[in-house]
Amino acid sequence: MSRDSFSNRFGVVAAAAGSAIGLGNIWRFPYLCGENGGGAFLLAYLFCIILIGLPIMLAEFSIGRSAQRNAYRSFKVLSPQRPWYLIGVMGIIASFTIMSFYSAVGGWTIEYVIRSVTNTLAGDHNEMFNTFIAGTYTPIAYQFGFLALSLGVVIFGVSKGIEKSTKILMPALFVLLIILCIRSLTLEGAKEGLIFVLKPDFSNLSGNSILDALGQAFFSLSIGMGCMITYGSYIKRKEDLTYTANVIVLASIVVAVLASIVIFPAASALNIEVDAAGPGLVFKTLPGMFALMPGGIIFATLFFILLCIAALTSAISLIEVVVTFCVEEMQIKRGIATALVAVSMFLLGILCSLSLGMMPQLGLFGLGFFDLMDFMSANIFLPLGGFFIAIYMGWALKKRITVKELTSDGSIKFSLLRVFFFLIRYIVPVAILIVFISGFLRL
Ligand code: PHE
Repeated sequence: MSRDSFSNRFGVVAAAAGSAIGLGNIWRFPYLCGENGGGAFLLAYLFCIILIGLPIMLAEFSIGRSAQRNAYRSFKVLSPQRPWYLIGVMGIIASFTIMSFYSAVGGWTIEYVIRSVTNTLAGDHNEMFNTFIAGTYTPIAYQFGFLALSLGVVIFGVSKGIEKSTKILMPALFVLLIILCIRSLTLEGAKEGLIFVLKPDFSNLSGNSILDALGQAFFSLSIGMGCMITYGSYIKRKEDLTYTANVIVLASIVVAVLASIVIFPAASALNIEVDAAGPGLVFKTLPGMFALMPGGIIFATLFFILLCIAALTSAISLIEVVVTFCVEEMQIKRGIATALVAVSMFLLGILCSLSLGMMPQLGLFGLGFFDLMDFMSANIFLPLGGFFIAIYMGWALKKRITVKELTSDGSIKFSLLRVFFFLIRYIVPVAILIVFISGFLRL
């Protein structure tokens, strides 16, 4: 079977970075950081991303490139007659649970693009956001719009759609965030917010917060669910996997940190309570800051458009995981598979939106459906997937295969091979278990 392949190095790095960088860095990280006490959470996140996330990303790339298949089939090819392919199955479930709330937030970005363009961002932003998400039909319509956009991009196929959109987006997003940092930091009362996010106060950090940090590390790197296995399968044999993974991890960290340096100082200047703002934090904070900028409408428009595109390049990777599975495993035509997947994601997504709107009772375990999907995806499915990927790579897969991938058939020197194996065998699984246990016991 011929598989679509990326045209050059930048193509696949861009696509994988496009998957990693998204709402996770700009929307999810700041609001969790706000809820979990600031600086100490940032440190816990960095710790998880470097010590746990990076090795798992390398493991996923290696598995995918070695097997040349989608996440599910990769395990079947590398270890026939063993149940490791269940990791792939769990990844498909995770794609659905993530997309259900991701598409809702993607929809919010469209609403805010329209508000920016039509210059209707003025007023009480807390109230504005709350009224909007309680509006039930409007958020669902935008969610539909977001999914329709993602569907359009996926239908064009891997190399054409994903590659093109990301090349321009990343640098633009970076430059814009720097400009916004400058505005935020020069607001009166900004200092407090900066201290909040940069100065760790460990008394705020519970076991629960560390589980949030771990989940966020997985979420923001798009790992633990096979997405990077699928992308790994498109990476050419001569490419250096470690280099690719390092670039993505670094970019992801930089964007999350920059987003925080925009949001927290602005929030303290505008008297917004970051621990109580919840998933609306970005949407409640930034419009107030744009109003205080010369050319604010232009910056607002640019920001929300870029946020929306960043969300799209992540969403398409989530859809792609399921679509590749349907096409390669169930022999469904690509167009039909994409439409089916998007429609099912939309149906699940409606429940997320409704739980923030007219049906707040929709949910389980004291969490609304939106929060439940978010929690289950990031704090359970992804770390669990990561745990099994680490065990698989460290203990089940032949070491020779991993070494072959990490050194690109011996053509690249990988001096940290021993460190890598030590991390993936012992540190990663044990750390995930400890965080799991302490998180669930709410220590
Ligand atoms: N990493 C994406 C983000 O930060 C979300 C995502 C998670 C995408 C898992 C794919 C797989 O927005």
